[in-house]
Amino acid sequence: MGWNSWNSFANIVNSQIVQQQAKAMASNGMKEAGYEYVVIDEGWWLGERDSAGNIVVNPKQWPAIQPGQKDGDMANIASYIHSLGLKAGIYTDAGRDGCSMYPDSGPKLFNAGSEGHYDQDFLQFSKWGFDYVKVDWCGGAKERRSGAIQYAQIAHAIQNAEKTTGRKLFFSICEWGSQNPWYWGPGVGDVESTIWRTGGDIIPPIVESLHDPEHDKRVITARNLLDSFDTGMHPEAQHTGYFNDLDMMVMGMRGMTEALDRTHMGLWAISSAPLMIGSDLTRLSPSTLSLLTNREALAIHHDPFGLQPIKVDETTPGVQIWVKPMAIAGRRAIGILNRTDTSAQIRIDWEKLGLKGAPRSLRDVWNGRDVDVTHAAVSVPAHDLVLMLADGEDKLAAEYSANNDSFAGIQATGGPTFARLEYANRSSHVVVTRVKSTSGLFTAVALPPTTGSDTGTIGLILPRGTADLSFEGRPVTVSRLKVQAW
Ligand code: GLA
Repeated sequence: MGWNSWNSFANIVNSQIVQQQAKAMASNGMKEAGYEYVVIDEGWWLGERDSAGNIVVNPKQWPAIQPGQKDGDMANIASYIHSLGLKAGIYTDAGRDGCSMYPDSGPKLFNAGSEGHYDQDFLQFSKWGFDYVKVDWCGGAKERRSGAIQYAQIAHAIQNAEKTTGRKLFFSICEWGSQNPWYWGPGVGDVESTIWRTGGDIIPPIVESLHDPEHDKRVITARNLLDSFDTGMHPEAQHTGYFNDLDMMVMGMRGMTEALDRTHMGLWAISSAPLMIGSDLTRLSPSTLSLLTNREALAIHHDPFGLQPIKVDETTPGVQIWVKPMAIAGRRAIGILNRTDTSAQIRIDWEKLGLKGAPRSLRDVWNGRDVDVTHAAVSVPAHDLVLMLADGEDKLAAEYSANNDSFAGIQATGGPTFARLEYANRSSHVVVTRVKSTSGLFTAVALPPTTGSDTGTIGLILPRGTADLSFEGRPVTVSRLKVQAW
């Protein structure tokens, strides 16, 4: 969770802007709500290096902030961000060139990528004090590289940097879903937690202060938002610590209505997608801010299973019920999404939530009110989303015991199915295990350490038609799989 400079400042980003945004985040309630990263995107570096290959930045863009600091040192801004109790993020490209060879504004620049300098650059980011790095793909795409290979090399450079500095550098992969990163992103290079972008940008940046005709005509539409959500649904790849990234948020930006803000927050929350807001934080309206910091929506977002939602119903075209299975038995977050231009009335069919009958309790998250389940007709305005939390009783699950770290004869032949996996990981670190299913693909699952003789449980969404599931040998054992009747 945090802020990213691109959507609202594009390549005009500089120290002053970042300081203002960090200050806003530290004082407007976002920091208390859990937003922590302040990420500097493209535009911070113009592609220059010294004779030893070290990155050189413009001293006017990144001057000293405190006495004793040198102009042109990125450690200045990282330490300013830290002084507010926040974490600092930076950006580069996996290729030789970065995206600044296709500038949104300003001159065309080359060599603003890290290829050929992976170890040097990621160590430098970490030494400057950065805690997060987003790695883009413009240069990688131009050179027709393999994302799985380049990002694995970068993961190792990050791990080496972490060993040297002792500072965690969170890895954010941004190759826009072009090479199906949901297959190789989880656990790439054995990174213990990561996010990968699933699609292109929701919109090109809208820099209000530029006042150029191109930026002035840009407006966000419902379609922009929904496209990002739709292309980002790869639920079988997402679980504890590994997340599909639906892109930086655009709440409160030009074109966003209150309804669209709710839809945006609701969809990103039930998807447990990274909440990196790209708006100008000094200009957020009270209603946008209150949605961004809504504690009940954030609790849904932080559910320990971290799963994406499953679409369970669409009785009228464009009016859909999306359900996020949650770690607590019988708990579901429900997003009732109205994609149409007119308001809709919808009745929730409890059977479709994988529950036995109606839930015990139902909560309307936006209004912070309990709802009488017997009157569960919900009205949803055009392009809006009603977010609910239901607690009930799970329908009986089918249980499978593992044989040699495999489960056979699974009955999950319908749509995507929610399952709980019991396992033991007696090592002291998260273990990433590759999973194969007879239904085709599968991905990687992160298994955090378990203590003593306890078993751990994670949530999985099995792809349609899963019949057999095997976990590739690492020092973990899987014991039971409970497949939820849905
Ligand atoms: C790509 C990324 C964006 C942003 C820009 C910077 O388009 O997807 O998130 O980083 O590059 O140019």
